[in-house]
Amino acid sequence: MKDPKRYLVTSALPYANGPLHIGHIAGAYLPADIYVRYLRLKEKDVAFICGSDEHGVPITLRARNEGVSPQKIVDKYHEINKKAFKDLGIEFDIYHRTSDPLHHQTASDFFLTLYEKGEFIEKEEEQYYDEKEQQFLADRYIVGICPKCNYDNAYGDQCEQCGTSLSPKELIDPVSALSGNKPQLKKTRHWYLPLDKYQEQWLEDWIDSHRDDWKANVYGQCKSWLNQKLQPRAVTRDLEWGVPVPVKGTEGKVLYVWFDAPIGYISATKAWADAHGKDWEKYWKDKDTSLVHFIGKDNIVFHCLIFPSMLNAHGEYILSDNVPANEFLNLEGDKLSTSRNWAVWVNEFVKEFPDKIDVLRYTLAANFPEQKDNDFTWKDFQTRNNNELVAVMGNFVNRALVLTKKYFDGKVPECSELTDYDRDILSRAATIKEDLENSIENFKFREAVKIAMDMARLGNKYLADTEPWSLYERDIGRVQTILNVSLQITASLSIIIEPFLPFTAERLRNLLNISKLNWELAGKLDILGVGHEINKPKHLFQKIEDETVEKQVEKLKEARRKKEQEAQGIQPAKENVGFEDFSKLDIRVGEILEAERVPKTKKLMKLAIDTGLDQRTVVAGIAEQFNPEDIKGKQVSIAVNLEPKKIKGIQSQGMILMAEDSEGNLTFLSPGNETQKGAVVK
Ligand code: MF3
Ligand code: ZN
Repeated sequence: MKDPKRYLVTSALPYANGPLHIGHIAGAYLPADIYVRYLRLKEKDVAFICGSDEHGVPITLRARNEGVSPQKIVDKYHEINKKAFKDLGIEFDIYHRTSDPLHHQTASDFFLTLYEKGEFIEKEEEQYYDEKEQQFLADRYIVGICPKCNYDNAYGDQCEQCGTSLSPKELIDPVSALSGNKPQLKKTRHWYLPLDKYQEQWLEDWIDSHRDDWKANVYGQCKSWLNQKLQPRAVTRDLEWGVPVPVKGTEGKVLYVWFDAPIGYISATKAWADAHGKDWEKYWKDKDTSLVHFIGKDNIVFHCLIFPSMLNAHGEYILSDNVPANEFLNLEGDKLSTSRNWAVWVNEFVKEFPDKIDVLRYTLAANFPEQKDNDFTWKDFQTRNNNELVAVMGNFVNRALVLTKKYFDGKVPECSELTDYDRDILSRAATIKEDLENSIENFKFREAVKIAMDMARLGNKYLADTEPWSLYERDIGRVQTILNVSLQITASLSIIIEPFLPFTAERLRNLLNISKLNWELAGKLDILGVGHEINKPKHLFQKIEDETVEKQVEKLKEARRKKEQEAQGIQPAKENVGFEDFSKLDIRVGEILEAERVPKTKKLMKLAIDTGLDQRTVVAGIAEQFNPEDIKGKQVSIAVNLEPKKIKGIQSQGMILMAEDSEGNLTFLSPGNETQKGAVVK
C-alpha cells in the first residue's frame, strides 16, 4: 500500500511456556522492530502489537507435568519474555496477554458474530476419549504406532520419527498419554470454519493478488496449501484451558488456540488504544491502515489463510497488507531446538553480554533467514563486531570526533568551500538514505543493514582519502570543511542506525550532544550547526577476543550433552573429590558365601561375605533382581571400611558395589577373572 494513513504492525504472540531464543528473535521480532523504528523515525502513525499466547495444549501438558495450574506457567513466562524483549530493545507499544479478560471477551464476541452469521459448519464426530481421566484427548495426548514407519511413540498429530502428519485415528494401538489406557471413541460436537468454501469464493483470488508484493516463500507456501485444496477446520476443542465457547450447552469446550490467538492482536490493540486515548477501530477497520504481520514460516498458513478467513467472515475488518515471514535460523550449522537444548537463550545472552545487545541485533539482522534458512555462528558474531562495527563504524566515528576535539576544541567547524569530491561524497550519503528506505519498505532487512553500514564505510573512506591530519599545518580551512562534512556523516549515521542499533544510536547522539532526529535529515549537509559543541570522544564498540566466543561454543555443546544424557537417563556427574578423599575408601574383592532374603522385605538380601580380611554380614538391596542360589560363590567388590549400620535389625558391615543403569537394572562389579580374596580395588 502506498502511503497509508497509519500502520498496524504485529509480531507473532509467543507461547508463554518457555523462554525465547535467538531463532525466535530473528524470525518475527527483530525484523518487526527494525521496521517499526524506521516508521517512527519517519513520524508515521504506527501501533506495534505483541503479547503472550497463553492457551493451547502444550501449556496444559506442561502444567500437568509440573503439578501446577496453567495460569502459573503463563504468569511466569509472560514476565520472562516481556523482559527479554525489553532487554533486546524490541519496543512494542503493548505486550498484552491472551489470558486477560479483555481478550476473552473480544475472542468470545468474535466467535459469536461468526456463529450468529451462520458462518460455521456444526459437526458431530467421534474422537478419542479417556474414560479414566474423563476427558477428550487432544491429538498430542494420544500416542501409538506410526502407520507409515512403525515408530512406536508417534503422536496423534505427527510422527516425530518420519515427520508424517497424522490424525489420531490413523495411529495403531493408540494409548492415552494421560492415563496410559486405551482411549475410546466417543461422539463430540464442534464448529468448523469452511475454508474450502472461502477458497472458492475469494481467498484464492486474494492470495493471487499478492503474487508480486509478498515474499516468494510466503506466496509459494500459500499456493501449495491452496493447490492441495483447503478443508474445513475445527475452531473449537474439548479442553478446560482457553476461551470458553460462548454457546449454551458447550461446557468443557474452548476455542481452538489458533482461533483465539490472532484475535489477541485485536484485543491488544484495544488495550493499547484505551490506555492512550486512541481509537482501536481505525487501526483494524479503516482501509487506509496498512496491516503487517511479522511471523516465522511455521505460522504462514494461520496468518495468510485462516486468520484472513476469520476477519473476512466477520466482515468489518481489513486484511493484511503484507506478511513478511522469515524462514528458520540455524545455530552453528545445526537446527535450533528447545528439546535438544541447542539454542542461545535471550535471557542468558543479556546477562552475559549486557553491553553487546546491538552486536547481537547487528549479527542477526545481517543473517536474517529472509529467503531460506540461515546460520548464526559465534565466530560470525565476533567477526562482525571486530571487522565491521569496531573497525569501520567505531573507527570512523572516533576519528571524526577525536580530530574535532584536537583541532577545534570540540566545536563543529565551518564548512567553507566544498570540492567536487566532497559533493560526490554527500550525494552518495543521500543515495544511501534512499536505498535504505527502499530496502526497509520492501522488508529486505539484510540488504538494509548492509546499506546502513555503507554510510560508515563512506565516512571512513572520506577521511582516508582526504587525510585532514596531514593538512592541518598547511590548509586549516580545508581541514574545517573536511571535519564538518565528516561530522555531518556521523550525525546521519546516528539517524539511520537507530532501527538496527538503537543502543549505539543513543550513545552516538550523546557523543554528538544531539537529541533524536527525524529520518529525513539523514544524508543532509547541515544537520549539525557550526559551533555546536560535541562531547568527549569515547569508543562505540569493543573488540571481542577469541576466547570469549570459544567459551560460548563450548557452553552450547555442554548444554546439549547434558540434555542428551538426561534423555538417556544418565545421572549427572558429581563434584570432583581429591585423591586423598578417594583413597580413604577401602574396597576389596570378596566372595559371597551365603545368601538369603530378609523376611518381610521385597528388596533386601542378607549376604555372608569372605573379604579376605574376615567373614562378615552385609545387607544389600538386590533381592528383586537376583536369586540367592544364583549368586552364591560369586566374586564381588565390597567397600569394607564403611561405618557398620543396622538394617531391619541386622548389622550390615560394608557395601557391595553394583552398577545401576537408567532403568534400574543392577550388575555386580566383579573382577574379570578369578582373583585373590582381599585384593585391593584401586
Ligand atoms: N504462539 C504461536 C507460535 O509461537 C504464534 C501465535 S501468533 C497469533 O507459533 F497470531 F496466533 F497470535
Ligand atoms: Zn512414522
